[in-house]
Amino acid sequence: MEVPKMKREEALALLLEYNSNDSLIRHAYAVEAVMRHFARSFGEDEEYWGNIGLLHDLDYEKYPDQHCSMTKVILEERRFDEKMIRAILSHGYGLCTDIKPELPLEKVLYTIDELTGLIMATVYMRPDKSIRELEMKSVLKKFKTPKFAAGVNREVILSGCTMLDRSVEEIIQECINGMRERADILGIT
Ligand SMILES: [Fe+2]
Ligand SMILES: [Fe+2]
Repeated sequence: MEVPKMKREEALALLLEYNSNDSLIRHAYAVEAVMRHFARSFGEDEEYWGNIGLLHDLDYEKYPDQHCSMTKVILEERRFDEKMIRAILSHGYGLCTDIKPELPLEKVLYTIDELTGLIMATVYMRPDKSIRELEMKSVLKKFKTPKFAAGVNREVILSGCTMLDRSVEEIIQECINGMRERADILGIT
Protein backbone atom coordinates (compact mmCIF):
# COMPACT_ATOMS: atom_id res chain seq x y z
CA MET A 1 0.00 0.00 0.00
CA GLU A 2 1.23 3.45 -0.91
CA VAL A 3 2.28 5.46 2.17
CA PRO A 4 0.55 8.87 2.12
CA LYS A 5 2.99 11.64 1.38
CA MET A 6 4.19 13.62 4.35
CA LYS A 7 3.42 17.32 4.40
CA ARG A 8 5.89 19.94 5.53
CA GLU A 9 3.64 20.89 8.48
CA GLU A 10 3.80 17.32 9.76
CA ALA A 11 7.59 17.15 9.47
CA LEU A 12 7.90 20.52 11.19
CA ALA A 13 5.57 19.47 14.03
CA LEU A 14 7.68 16.37 14.61
CA LEU A 15 10.90 18.41 14.56
CA LEU A 16 9.46 20.78 17.17
CA GLU A 17 8.22 17.91 19.30
CA TYR A 18 11.82 16.76 19.80
CA ASN A 19 13.71 20.05 19.51
CA SER A 20 13.60 23.40 21.27
CA ASN A 21 17.17 24.62 20.80
CA ASP A 22 17.13 27.59 18.42
CA SER A 23 20.43 26.86 16.74
CA LEU A 24 19.52 23.22 16.12
CA ILE A 25 16.16 24.25 14.67
CA ARG A 26 17.88 26.84 12.50
CA HIS A 27 20.28 24.14 11.29
CA ALA A 28 17.31 21.97 10.31
CA TYR A 29 15.83 24.92 8.37
CA ALA A 30 19.14 25.56 6.61
CA VAL A 31 19.47 21.94 5.54
CA GLU A 32 15.82 21.95 4.45
CA ALA A 33 16.34 25.08 2.34
CA VAL A 34 19.36 23.63 0.58
CA MET A 35 17.67 20.25 0.05
CA ARG A 36 14.70 21.98 -1.57
CA HIS A 37 17.02 24.01 -3.76
CA PHE A 38 18.81 20.87 -4.99
CA ALA A 39 15.54 18.95 -5.44
CA ARG A 40 14.48 21.61 -7.92
CA SER A 41 17.70 21.34 -9.88
CA PHE A 42 17.39 17.53 -9.99
CA GLY A 43 13.72 17.84 -11.02
CA GLU A 44 12.65 15.90 -7.92
CA ASP A 45 10.07 16.30 -5.15
CA GLU A 46 10.93 19.47 -3.24
CA GLU A 47 8.75 18.81 -0.22
CA TYR A 48 10.06 15.25 0.16
CA TRP A 49 13.69 16.37 0.00
CA GLY A 50 12.92 19.29 2.31
CA ASN A 51 11.26 17.10 4.93
CA ILE A 52 14.29 14.83 4.99
CA GLY A 53 16.40 17.92 5.60
CA LEU A 54 14.12 19.09 8.41
CA LEU A 55 14.21 15.74 10.20
CA HIS A 56 17.77 14.55 9.59
CA ASP A 57 19.00 15.46 13.10
CA LEU A 58 15.70 14.76 14.85
CA ASP A 59 17.24 12.94 17.83
CA TYR A 60 20.31 15.10 18.31
CA GLU A 61 19.04 17.47 21.00
CA LYS A 62 17.62 14.76 23.26
CA TYR A 63 19.98 11.87 22.47
CA PRO A 64 23.31 13.29 21.26
CA ASP A 65 25.12 10.07 22.22
CA GLN A 66 22.70 7.94 20.24
CA HIS A 67 22.52 10.20 17.20
CA CYS A 68 20.89 8.47 14.20
CA SER A 69 19.99 5.31 16.12
CA MET A 70 17.26 7.09 18.12
CA THR A 71 15.96 8.77 14.97
CA LYS A 72 15.56 5.29 13.51
CA VAL A 73 13.59 4.15 16.57
CA ILE A 74 11.34 7.23 16.55
CA LEU A 75 10.62 7.09 12.82
CA GLU A 76 9.99 3.34 12.81
CA GLU A 77 7.55 3.72 15.69
CA ARG A 78 5.70 6.28 13.61
CA ARG A 79 5.65 3.97 10.62
CA PHE A 80 7.73 6.20 8.42
CA ASP A 81 8.46 5.07 4.92
CA GLU A 82 11.60 2.88 4.87
CA LYS A 83 13.14 4.89 2.04
CA MET A 84 12.79 8.08 4.00
CA ILE A 85 14.38 6.53 7.10
CA ARG A 86 17.25 5.20 5.00
CA ALA A 87 17.86 8.60 3.44
CA ILE A 88 17.90 10.32 6.82
CA LEU A 89 20.27 7.77 8.38
CA SER A 90 22.68 7.90 5.46
CA HIS A 91 23.77 11.43 6.45
CA GLY A 92 25.66 9.80 9.32
CA TYR A 93 27.61 7.47 7.05
CA GLY A 94 30.97 6.64 8.59
CA LEU A 95 30.10 8.71 11.67
CA CYS A 96 27.08 7.13 13.32
CA THR A 97 25.71 4.74 10.69
CA ASP A 98 27.12 2.44 8.02
CA ILE A 99 24.41 3.36 5.52
CA LYS A 100 26.15 4.66 2.43
CA PRO A 101 24.52 7.51 0.52
CA GLU A 102 23.39 6.06 -2.83
CA LEU A 103 20.50 8.16 -4.16
CA PRO A 104 21.08 11.74 -5.32
CA LEU A 105 19.09 13.06 -2.37
CA GLU A 106 21.20 11.03 0.05
CA LYS A 107 24.45 12.24 -1.49
CA VAL A 108 23.26 15.85 -1.38
CA LEU A 109 22.20 15.58 2.27
CA TYR A 110 25.53 14.01 3.21
CA THR A 111 27.47 16.73 1.39
CA ILE A 112 25.63 19.86 2.48
CA ASP A 113 24.82 19.06 6.14
CA GLU A 114 28.12 20.33 7.55
CA LEU A 115 28.54 22.92 4.82
CA THR A 116 25.42 24.82 5.91
CA GLY A 117 27.13 25.26 9.30
CA LEU A 118 30.26 26.66 7.70
CA ILE A 119 28.20 29.10 5.65
CA MET A 120 26.21 30.26 8.69
CA ALA A 121 29.46 30.80 10.61
CA THR A 122 30.84 32.81 7.67
CA VAL A 123 27.69 34.96 7.56
CA TYR A 124 27.97 35.67 11.31
CA MET A 125 31.53 36.96 10.77
CA ARG A 126 30.30 39.62 8.36
CA PRO A 127 29.52 43.06 9.79
CA ASP A 128 26.16 43.07 7.94
CA LYS A 129 25.30 39.50 9.07
CA SER A 130 23.80 39.03 5.64
CA ILE A 131 23.96 36.26 3.07
CA ARG A 132 22.80 38.53 0.24
CA GLU A 133 26.25 39.48 -0.93
CA LEU A 134 28.18 36.56 0.48
CA GLU A 135 30.55 35.26 -2.17
CA MET A 136 31.53 31.67 -2.78
CA LYS A 137 35.22 32.54 -2.49
CA SER A 138 34.79 33.89 1.07
CA VAL A 139 33.29 30.57 2.14
CA LEU A 140 35.98 28.66 0.25
CA LYS A 141 38.64 30.60 2.15
CA LYS A 142 37.01 29.63 5.46
CA PHE A 143 36.72 26.06 4.20
CA LYS A 144 40.48 26.03 3.71
CA THR A 145 41.10 27.46 7.19
CA PRO A 146 40.81 24.45 9.51
CA LYS A 147 40.74 26.60 12.65
CA PHE A 148 37.64 28.45 11.47
CA ALA A 149 34.47 26.62 12.63
CA ALA A 150 36.79 23.74 13.51
CA GLY A 151 33.85 21.41 14.23
CA VAL A 152 32.85 21.39 10.57
CA ASN A 153 34.09 18.15 9.06
CA ARG A 154 35.77 19.15 5.78
CA GLU A 155 36.53 15.53 4.91
CA VAL A 156 32.82 14.66 4.83
CA ILE A 157 32.09 17.62 2.56
CA LEU A 158 34.87 16.68 0.16
CA SER A 159 33.90 13.04 0.03
CA GLY A 160 30.30 14.11 -0.65
CA CYS A 161 31.46 16.30 -3.55
CA THR A 162 33.27 13.27 -4.96
CA MET A 163 30.08 11.19 -4.64
CA LEU A 164 28.16 13.88 -6.51
CA ASP A 165 30.97 14.39 -9.01
CA ARG A 166 30.82 18.14 -8.42
CA SER A 167 33.49 20.57 -7.30
CA VAL A 168 33.43 21.98 -3.80
CA GLU A 169 33.19 25.46 -5.35
CA GLU A 170 29.98 24.53 -7.19
CA ILE A 171 28.45 22.92 -4.13
CA ILE A 172 29.30 25.92 -1.93
CA GLN A 173 27.64 28.23 -4.49
CA GLU A 174 24.49 26.10 -4.65
CA CYS A 175 24.35 25.93 -0.88
CA ILE A 176 24.60 29.73 -0.61
CA ASN A 177 21.84 30.09 -3.21
CA GLY A 178 19.55 27.70 -1.33
CA MET A 179 20.11 29.39 2.02
CA ARG A 180 19.70 32.86 0.51
CA GLU A 181 16.20 31.92 -0.66
CA ARG A 182 15.21 31.21 2.95
CA ALA A 183 17.25 33.83 4.81
CA ASP A 184 14.00 34.81 6.58
CA ILE A 185 13.66 31.56 8.51
CA LEU A 186 17.42 31.36 9.13
CA GLY A 187 17.36 34.57 11.16
CA ILE A 188 19.71 36.34 8.75
CA THR A 189 19.15 38.82 5.94
FE1 LIG B 1 23.55 14.54 12.05
FE1 LIG C 1 22.92 18.08 10.58
